Amino acid sequence: MKHTIKLFLSGLAIVAVSSCGRDANDPGIEYAPDMYVSKGYEPYSQLADVTRSITDENGKTWVINSDGKNMREPVKGTIARGQLDYVFPYAKTPEDYERAGAELKNPLAATEENLAEGKRLYEINCTPCHGTNGKGDGTIVQDGKYPPPPSYDSDRIKTTADGKMYFSITYGKNLMGSYASSLSPTERWQVIHYIRTLSGNAAAPADSTTVPKQ
Ligand code: HEC
Repeated sequence: MKHTIKLFLSGLAIVAVSSCGRDANDPGIEYAPDMYVSKGYEPYSQLADVTRSITDENGKTWVINSDGKNMREPVKGTIARGQLDYVFPYAKTPEDYERAGAELKNPLAATEENLAEGKRLYEINCTPCHGTNGKGDGTIVQDGKYPPPPSYDSDRIKTTADGKMYFSITYGKNLMGSYASSLSPTERWQVIHYIRTLSGNAAAPADSTTVPKQ
């Protein structure tokens, strides 16, 4: 009996000594590693084997996750956090174009910063057609195949309300495409501030002065 205890104690001593000097970060032998490292599903991946079917007590079979998606579709109408600005409550109709013109105001001040950013974005996105000075003489127009857009210093654009411009930049207008996916709402308003400097009427245009108060 005494022998057994001695043996046990010397065994313990060996284990204690031999475990010294090991890498402190080494967890040693892990028992049931699944408990530490869970099998996570990648949110955007599609896994066929996550489809399951169960039969309820009435004998009806339900297929769970039939589309094999790990992440559920957001509920229809869901707005991503911080993207409320992207909601554009106007339909692409002539009536809503008028309504946008009457209701929407540029929420940004025409600060130097906003104008500089508006200029930068304008030069990247708009000059091919509208031209550097907004005269409607961009490179695409110069070979005569593309009808020139209206000059920004024409009466037509001068009297176009900011809200109408925002509507047209968002939806596009006839030959001009939509910039909704390339310019954020803030960027669209910055460009509009810059357009106003090109059209020589940085102040509110004529038809937005009759706006009903919201
Ligand atoms: C492919 C050529 C093209 C590009 C690029 C383009 N436009 Fe236009 N734009 C046009 C044409 C053409 C019109 C005239 C549309 C009409 O009234 O038929 C127009 C009209 C407009 C109008 C007047 C809209 C209205 O409601 O009457 C604004 C404002 C405008 N563009 C701003 C921009 C801005 C800002 C950009 C860059 C982000 C841009 N455009 C890029 C071709 C272009």
